[in-house]
Amino acid sequence: MADDSLDTKRFPHRHLLGIEGLSRDEIALLLDVSDTYVDQNRQVDKKVSTLRGRTIINLFFENSTRTRTSFELAGKRLGADVINMSVSDSAIKKGETLIDTAMTLNAMHPDVLVVRHSNSGAVQLLSEKVNCAVVNAGDGSHEHPTQALLDALTMRRRRGNIEGLLVAICGDILHSRVARSNILLLQTMGARVRVIAPRTLLPTAIENLGVEVFHDMKVGLKDCDIVMMLRLQTERMHGSFFPSVREYFHFFGLDYDKLSAAKPDALIMHPGPSNRGVEIDSEVADDYSRSVIHEQVEMGVAVRMACLDLMTRGIGDDPDQRNL
Ligand code: CP
Repeated sequence: MADDSLDTKRFPHRHLLGIEGLSRDEIALLLDVSDTYVDQNRQVDKKVSTLRGRTIINLFFENSTRTRTSFELAGKRLGADVINMSVSDSAIKKGETLIDTAMTLNAMHPDVLVVRHSNSGAVQLLSEKVNCAVVNAGDGSHEHPTQALLDALTMRRRRGNIEGLLVAICGDILHSRVARSNILLLQTMGARVRVIAPRTLLPTAIENLGVEVFHDMKVGLKDCDIVMMLRLQTERMHGSFFPSVREYFHFFGLDYDKLSAAKPDALIMHPGPSNRGVEIDSEVADDYSRSVIHEQVEMGVAVRMACLDLMTRGIGDDPDQRNL
């Protein structure tokens, strides 16, 4: 049953730049509102007019399938006008800077800029220059907040609660904004987090984030409720981090043998895009009795609708956000 009290609740942040800084109650509110949008997205008529008259610009400086498409769908299903911009067809190709591009778009009075950039901190910098709301759709190896929220929604709907879960995040933690946002969110919501990776693919002093560190998959996966696999982010690697893909898969690729160490009903998750035969065996990825990879994608649309909805509630009340 829909919870009417959610309609009036406000998200107290102008931007969504990361999970860092969000309280447990704020994350719970985002997940509660997302739940209502999961139901709406399963109807024949998926469209409402909550964001009618609003303009959203998706500004992606890095490739994306899931995040960009789901933000576009989210905005359109809420009734907003949505513009997609990618670097390849923008004036950045003519030498315009990130800030000049953002200020140019800002002058057209968008209500929300959704930004992905390869540099950690670039989205925050941009948010300081514009006077619309900004959502971080992934910045370098820093944060990917809506990915962590959709992962949390998937876990909460499957397991009823995030508190008390034992979650293993496995693979290229060093370059992963998904890992960082998930560690922050899961710990805020009361889950225990393990990271499993070769030493070369872990940030120094990762223990300071409060996670347990393992270098052996079967040891680290023991009794886990959730097994979250990560892609090797070769586009961020300068140098050699592992001897060969074959050896990486042998020690860190998820197959049924390694999975057998986790709880018998442990869920398999992956933010995508996945590389079969590198970090995950094809059979395991396609085992829909355990793998919730497609469910994560479905939750992504609902979570992004909730973010856009909550972030734009009350925007018209603040004159600073309407005028240059
Ligand atoms: N998980 C994720 O961010 O996927 P895309 O790169 O396809 O958006």
